[in-house]
This record gives sequence, structure tokens and C-alpha cells, in this order.
Amino acid sequence: MTDPVSYSIHGHVAVLRINNPPVNALSQAVRQGLADGMDRAEADTAVKAVLVVGEGRAFIAGADITEFGKPPMEPNLPDLCTRIENSPLLVIASMHGVTLGGGLEVALGAHYRIAQPSARLGLPEVHLGLLPGAGGTQRLPRLTGSDKAIEIMISGRQIKAAEALEMGVLDKVEEGDPQVIGLAYATELLSSGATRRAVSELPAPDAIDWEAAHEGALKKGRGQINTGVIVRAVQAASELPFMDGMARERALFADLLKSDQSKGMIHAFFNERAVSNLHELKGVTPRALNAIGVIGGGTMGAGIATAALLAKLNVVLIETGQEQADAARGRIEGNLQGALKRGKINQPQYDALTTEALTVAIDYASLGDVDLVIEAVFEDMAVKKEVFAKLDAACKAGAILASNTSYLDIDEIAAATSRPADVIGLHFFSPAHVMKLLEVVVADKTAADVVTTGFDLGKRLGKIAVRAGVCDGFIGNRILAVYRTAADHMVLDGASPYQIDRALTGFGFAMGPFAVADLAGLDIGWMTRKRKAAGRHADERVPTYIDRLCEQGHFGRKTGEGYYLYEAGSRASVPNPKIPELIATEQADLNITPRDFTDQEIVRRYMCAMVNEAAKVVEEGIARRPADVDMVLLFGYGFPRYSGGPLKWADLQGLADVLADIERYAQEDAWFWQPAGLLKTLVAEGRSFDDLNRAGGK
Ligand code: 3HC
Ligand code: NAI
Repeated sequence: MTDPVSYSIHGHVAVLRINNPPVNALSQAVRQGLADGMDRAEADTAVKAVLVVGEGRAFIAGADITEFGKPPMEPNLPDLCTRIENSPLLVIASMHGVTLGGGLEVALGAHYRIAQPSARLGLPEVHLGLLPGAGGTQRLPRLTGSDKAIEIMISGRQIKAAEALEMGVLDKVEEGDPQVIGLAYATELLSSGATRRAVSELPAPDAIDWEAAHEGALKKGRGQINTGVIVRAVQAASELPFMDGMARERALFADLLKSDQSKGMIHAFFNERAVSNLHELKGVTPRALNAIGVIGGGTMGAGIATAALLAKLNVVLIETGQEQADAARGRIEGNLQGALKRGKINQPQYDALTTEALTVAIDYASLGDVDLVIEAVFEDMAVKKEVFAKLDAACKAGAILASNTSYLDIDEIAAATSRPADVIGLHFFSPAHVMKLLEVVVADKTAADVVTTGFDLGKRLGKIAVRAGVCDGFIGNRILAVYRTAADHMVLDGASPYQIDRALTGFGFAMGPFAVADLAGLDIGWMTRKRKAAGRHADERVPTYIDRLCEQGHFGRKTGEGYYLYEAGSRASVPNPKIPELIATEQADLNITPRDFTDQEIVRRYMCAMVNEAAKVVEEGIARRPADVDMVLLFGYGFPRYSGGPLKWADLQGLADVLADIERYAQEDAWFWQPAGLLKTLVAEGRSFDDLNRAGGK
């Protein structure tokens, strides 16, 4: 193994070169290597300066996140940064790629900082439920002032070199190899007689209105607690002597590291990456992807086409007639106009995407050259089968045929073709050019290289791709149907839809289930209820009060009336006064005496329903790992990232308690609350969902 930190002498300068691929995280070995390098340089009388540089694609991407939660190992990072700063030698950091978290804290411990123009600097600990814990909260505000430092730490954004120079975080920006520009800068500093310059010795940062800053930070955090704690740490920098501020920062960091929120966010960090690593796909080469076809240019087809165009794929979109084709083109151009306005693309790119890269046609013969086609026509099996038979005839051999169906059986769709091995589900979420989730639905006969290509497409579109098996609703919509039903039951029993929405946004969901239903369109649920009515079990409780609204032509946001009333052209909504009346009528019909629910009980029942179904989805192999379900809920259903996903949440609550609640609810409604076998097994064995994640699955 190569040394994680190499030591070499160049004239009067000792170079400490970090080599810990892939991103030079500050593992124990790197920290030790840096400390040893400093000792060695200081012991060498010929050495006057130390240059710290990184090998590979980054200077340092931060603390080694895999070490969090394990027993601390010396030397610790805050002490290392202070040890670097206290050196009698001149210490220079030369940065390229990213310098993040603990990496920037090491650089702030150095006396001079130089970077390439393309370098990016940041303190992203906020995204891990933490705060910068190696002096970042104490040193950065001494350079930038309190307000700016708080903004940088709460946003966690990556700052460009030019901005960092302007703020005084960098002393110099120069093109060139980091070691070459660093050595030249060190030589320049030595020959000009520059002296040691410690950030900690600068005046304490300015006092601001700390209470207002704290309140504003919590608001920005939308339920995240660490944003407020970051403000308190900067307040300590302003009010306490430097070393006392460091101690305060360390105590706050330790508290946050123990919090459920940081556990949830660290779980999300690793699993959003792990979710597309499937052992059975190792070494399987994806098929080539240059042009894709999209069938149907409605809400989803237009969104998928937009995402593909923005990812530099050529798109051929097929509609049923010229009018529909024009409408589809209009939708795609509208989406791309949005990207243009936000600066994601420029005018020449917009022009190229809407002309050269996009073909909208009504003839399947235009699909002859596409490598993969995604069907997004009406959710109707007969229509889908007809489309797939046509695709089978029109597409070249080896082209992949994918369906964006929300619920329908991909095996049955595949059977409508002569090439079921080339058929797969690629389930996008609305709006498809914005939402990060992609379910890659693997049918019985789908070939391995078709699955790999699905993941490859996901990566190229910037999506989090999750493998799902075939069942009604796959991973996400299947679980949604169940927790949504739990909410419906609570309405029948006395909780108002508005209290439920409030309780769940209070928990951290982006939206409550009834606001979501209005957005998606109440007609979808109405049609599903009618479709499923015949096969329904006698014990199944299905509220129908909302059907009365649908019968009057009110389908939610798109018609201006649903659970809420919407004013045209405005995003604001107010509760619909008809809803409580409709609910009361149904309760009277069913002889239900409504009761009060606390917000806490609402959240608990909703979450227990979600966890129970999620456990069944894992048990049946529809999802490979509990973390796969977590990522689906996080990236497709507005689940708060700081809770990590439903199964991480369940682990943190304690599985025995969750199961006990489900069994208690089952005493009222044994049909709905059937405890998942996997949940019972895990409780009996004293294991957690995370134990299954570590073992690679069920
Ligand atoms: N510790 C451990 N592993 C890390 C890591 C870190 N800080 N940063 C990245 N990795 C790992 C990833 O898990 C991934 O592993 P995998 O290949 O096994 O999945 C691998 O490095 C490559 O990462 P990406 O796939 O994300 O590569 P990209 O090039 O897309 O992105 C990056 C690189 C911008 C550095 C991105 O990985 C990132 O944002 N990393 C996290 C940075 C961060 O949060 N730093 C702060 C850490 S906390 C801290 O420093 C506390 C201190 O204040 C005390
Ligand atoms: P939509 O009704 O907005 O669009 C469907 C489009 O398909 C229409 O423009 C129609 O003209 C076209 N079309 C119908 N038959 C066709 C054919 N034979 N050939 C070519 N085009 C044809 O529907 P939406 O919402 O875009 O849904 C499409 C599919 O995506 C459905 O299977 C749906 O379940 C699924 N889906 C929908 C989501 C949503 O939130 N709307 C989310 C994820 C999946």
C-alpha cells in the first residue's frame, strides 16, 4: 500500500502530499501522516515552509465519514488543524478539485492558501446533520465575518475559487499543477520575508443579532436542528476566546453526531450511492445509448424527453396525431424554457436541443435508430400492449423497450413482444425532468445488460436509480397506497385531512397526503377505487366521501377544487368547507362516532403503516435492501432526508416498539394491520433493518 501522506523536500520546502483515493478523505492514517509530516519538517533545520497538496481529483473531501460513530482515533482532526496552525514554519495549502468540510478546516489551519481557478471550497457538514467540527465555525467567520460564514455553512454550498479569493478565504488563485503553483508561492513568500499568519489570531468575528440569525437558520432548515446549532457555534466564535470557542464547537459537534438526524442523513449519504451497486451487475457492460424514443408526450413523456435532451441524448417522440404532437413539443419547449431561465442551458443550446436533438413524429418508423424507447401512454393495459407490439416491429434488434407504467405488470407487457429479454420498467416521477428517483423495474425475463443499461441511463440523467421487482405499484406506489389508506382511515375515525397534512409536514414531509392527492388529481384515486371495487375484501375500509366531489367534476388542483380550494394563478390554498360536511355524512352512514387524534398519533400510525408495507416489500424481494426502500421514499415521495427513510426511522425508533404499535392497531382493524413477517423475525432475532443493509439484503 502506498503511504497515504508522502513526504518530500524541495529546496527549503517540505511537501506533504495526500494520496487516499478516491477523494482524500481524512482517515486516521491521513491525519497521522500529516501530523508525522509536520513533526519531520519541524525537525529538519533546512526546512522553512510546509506545502500541503492532494493527489488525484481533490485536495481533501473532508473527514472520513465511514469513521463516524466508531470509537475516535488519535490524532483527532481539530487538534491536527491547531497543530498545523501552531507550527513555527510557514504552512501553505495548495488546492484543486474540491476542498470540503475537514479539508477546508485543514486549509484554514494553514497560514497561506492558494488554489486553481477551477477549485471549489465548502463546508457541507450541514447535509450530514452536523456542523464543521474541526475549527471551521471558529476560523471561517474570522475571515469572512459572521453573516457570510453562517450563510456558507447553512447552505453547505461549494464556493468557486474567485469568490473565495474575494472573501479572503484564499490568498491567491493560479492555473497550474497544485504542487508546482504551491512551491512557487512558498518560494515567493519565503523570499519576501512573509511570516506565519494564524487565522485564530485574527480578531473575533462581529456580533450580529444572534436570536434573529438562529430563528432564520431554523426556518431554512425546515425541521433540521443543526442549522440553528451552526449559528450558536459562530456566536461562540464571536463571544469566547479562540480555544474556548473550539471547545464549544467540539461539544456541539459531539451532540449532533449522536442525534438521529445525523444518523439519518449519513445513512442517506452512503445509500444514495450504494443503491445502484448491484452485485449481479458487476462486470455487465451496458448497451450503447445515443438516441432514445419516447412514446406519448403528455405530462410524463414530455418530462422524460426533457430530461434526456438535457443529458445530451437525441430524442424521437411519438404522438397519436399532429395536434397531440404539437402539444407535446410545446410542453418540452416549455420545460426547456425553464432550464434556460434558470441558466442551466444557454440560448444556442436551447436552439440545438429543440431542433437538431428533438424529433416529434406520429410515425413509428421514425424509431428505427433509437437504442432505447420509453413508453408513457395512457395507463391502460390494452393500449400498452398495442404500443409494445408496434415497438417490437419498428425498433432495431437490441433496442430496449421500456415502460413508464405506474402499476401495470411488466411481464404481461413484455409478453406482447417477441423480445421479452429486452423489456424493462423505467418508472419516472412527476415532473420527470426534476424528480431524482427512477425505479428500474426488472421483469422475469429482463436480460442483465438491459438492467445495467437502465441504471446507466439513470446515472446519465442524474437520477437515483433503484432496482424494483414487479408487483402492483412496484416499491414506491405500493407503499404509498398503504400509508395513504392509513390516513383515510384516520379521517373516517375523526382526524381532519387538514390536521393530518399539518402533522405530516410538521414531521418533515414536503407535503401532506391530501395536498398531494389534490396535486396528482383526485380522478386517479376515484378510477382506481372503481376498478378495485369488485375484488374488495369485506373487511376493507374504503372511504368514498371524496367520490361525491369527483362526481361533481372537482379533481383537485387542476380544477381549482379538491380537499383545498385553489385560486387561479395563485399557489395559495384554503381548506374546502364541503369536505367536513361530506366526511360527517359518511361517518353518520357508517355509525362512526368521530374521536380526537393527537398529531403524534397521526404521525405514528402513518409511519407504522409505511414501515409495515415497506418490510413486506423487502421480504418479497420487490426491493433488495431496506435502504433501497428508504431511497425511494426520500427521492420520490418527499420523505425528510434527516429521518433517513422509513426503515432507518423504524430502526431509530426501535423495531420492537413499532411492531407493538402495529399489533395494537390490529386489534381495531386486523385486515389492514397485518404485521409483516420480516418485522416479526427481526424483532425476535434482535436485529435491525440496517443489519440487513450491511449483509447486502434480506
Ligand atoms: N468520507 C468517506 N468517503 C467519502 C467521502 C468522505 N468524506 N466523500 C466521498 N466518499 C466516498 C463516497 O462514498 C464514494 O464511495 P463509493 O465509490 O464506495 O460509493 C466515493 O468516495 C466517491 O464519491 P462520489 O461518488 O460522491 O464522487 P463524486 O466525484 O460524485 O463527488 C464529492 C465527490 C464532491 C467529494 C462527494 O463525494 C461529497 O460531497 N463527499 C462528501 C463531502 C463531505 O460531506 N465532507 C464533509 C465531511 S464531514 C467533516 O468533514 C466533518 C469535519 O467538519 C469534522
Ligand atoms: P398523459 O395523459 O398526460 O399523457 C399520455 C399521452 O400519451 C397523451 O399525450 C396521449 O396523446 C399519448 N398517447 C396515448 N396513446 C398513444 C399511442 N398509442 N401512441 C403514442 N402516444 C399515445 O399521461 P401521463 O400522466 O403522462 O402518464 C403516462 C404514463 O406514465 C402512464 O402509464 C402513467 O401511469 C405513468 N406515470 C404517470 C405519472 C404521473 O404523475 N402523471 C408518474 C409516473 C408514471
